[in-house]
Amino acid sequence: MPLLIQEVPVTNAPMELLLLADPSEDKIRSYLLRSKCFVASSGAVVVGACVVQLRGTDSHELMSIAVHPAHQKTGYGTELLKWVIEYYRNSGARQLEVGTGTFGHQLAFYQRHGFRVTSIDRDFFVKNYPEPIFEDGIQLFDMLRLTLRYSVNVV
Ligand SMILES: CC(C)(COP(=O)(O)OP(=O)(O)OC[C@H]1O[C@@H](n2cnc3c(N)ncnc32)[C@H](O)[C@@H]1OP(=O)(O)O)[C@@H](O)C(=O)NCCC(=O)NCCS
Repeated sequence: MPLLIQEVPVTNAPMELLLLADPSEDKIRSYLLRSKCFVASSGAVVVGACVVQLRGTDSHELMSIAVHPAHQKTGYGTELLKWVIEYYRNSGARQLEVGTGTFGHQLAFYQRHGFRVTSIDRDFFVKNYPEPIFEDGIQLFDMLRLTLRYSVNVV
């Protein structure tokens, strides 16, 4: 079934999906109101979602992207990410940023699509979350900031 990707009002954002990417509902709610939310549906089923926030005049940040666990590793995440990249390219954006952990498949996921590491936010996950966060049994400490610059990246 082809994937339908569309913007939805942030009040209809699928929180259970967004929590897969960010364990803090408070944090998600705090950035959701100043963001756009896009959902990916297969038939009547919402299988993925992402949230993007405007940063400055022509820079945007991918705050969150997630695919329902039952549908992961089937290409939906890639399709959603590519769609969002093209959406902002067509809107005239200069760049799209994202923050992620320093290891794991998510890092490859972004770099495969042209994102490059631009900085490290040391201890981000310790300073910004009340509980330690683990990925593949390893505690997340630092956040890598990645940027896709439209002028120099070909996707
Ligand atoms: C990151 C995420 C959105 C990717 O979505 P997806 O639909 O599974 O991605 P795709 O099926 O398009 O796969 C993309 C690549 O990632 C790999 N991948 C996806 N999940 C993986 C996993 N758990 N372990 C290892 N590799 C994985 C796929 O094998 C694929 O690699 P390939 O192109 O070499 O075959 C999804 O794993 C997810 O929702 N994770 C939880 C939330 C999250 O971590 N969000 C990102 C926060 S920074």
